[in-house]
Amino acid sequence: MLVQRCCGRGAPVGEGEAGYHPVMVDDSDPMDMVIRGYDRLARRWDQWADEVDPPLRDRYVDWLEDRLDLGSSVLELGSGTGRPVAERLASRYRYLGLDVSTEMVTVARRNVRAGRFLVGDMRCVDLPVGQFDGVIAFYSIIHVPRSDHPALLRSIHGWLRPGGYLVACLSSEDLAAGVDEDWLGVGPMYWSGYDADTNLRMLVAAGFEEIHAEVVHQMEGEDEVRFLWCTARRPVSVPAMPG
Ligand SMILES: C[S@@+](CC[C@H](N)C(=O)[O-])C[C@H]1O[C@@H](n2cnc3c(N)ncnc32)[C@H](O)[C@@H]1O
Repeated sequence: MLVQRCCGRGAPVGEGEAGYHPVMVDDSDPMDMVIRGYDRLARRWDQWADEVDPPLRDRYVDWLEDRLDLGSSVLELGSGTGRPVAERLASRYRYLGLDVSTEMVTVARRNVRAGRFLVGDMRCVDLPVGQFDGVIAFYSIIHVPRSDHPALLRSIHGWLRPGGYLVACLSSEDLAAGVDEDWLGVGPMYWSGYDADTNLRMLVAAGFEEIHAEVVHQMEGEDEVRFLWCTARRPVSVPAMPG
């Protein structure tokens, strides 16, 4: 049974400069800005995302699939339009997609009939503990205020079964909060995250092991971006306490 809890949200975000590069802003909760942006982008997201080069999402889904049995449970955080992840996985696994944008979920439900999608905020959704064999988060945690990242990583660790895998792309740079005032023509969009070393330390602190990570450069149109692509595992068993 999935129950939606309430998040604190909607505090105003400070003014930023126009242009692609993120600028420092107030670190209050900007999720309304993220929702509004992706609601507006939903119908043209795939066209834009498919041109990002190199395309890494399929490579990381391959990595996860190599480790999953058919029928395993997979949770995708920030499932977007359902492409390419749900489209690939929903008919062969027990797939659940979660996205904070109602419009993204509407498009995903249309694109992937076999998928199960929920509207909700990954920071405060109640999901069953120890349920999922894999959790995927592509380009989504980068929109969550970074002060929430440690707790979110602990939640993801808890949602995984012992031995389950996380596949995610996180920020590679230290950005407390940044806004592009008109991202892809839909108005303001928000990002937040830590540098690669801090992300790796947070994964360890959340309880993950077998952590592998690479910073990869990609082209989004004319713009070069860099994210930390990582895989990690919830330990199969919890080590016994000494004494
Ligand atoms: C850059 S898009 C990526 C979508 C998809 N993962 C992909 O690779 O095409 C980010 C997605 O994360 C969702 N998102 C952002 N913050 C979220 C949150 N707190 N909880 C759930 N979804 C969120 C957005 O609505 C959006 O659909």
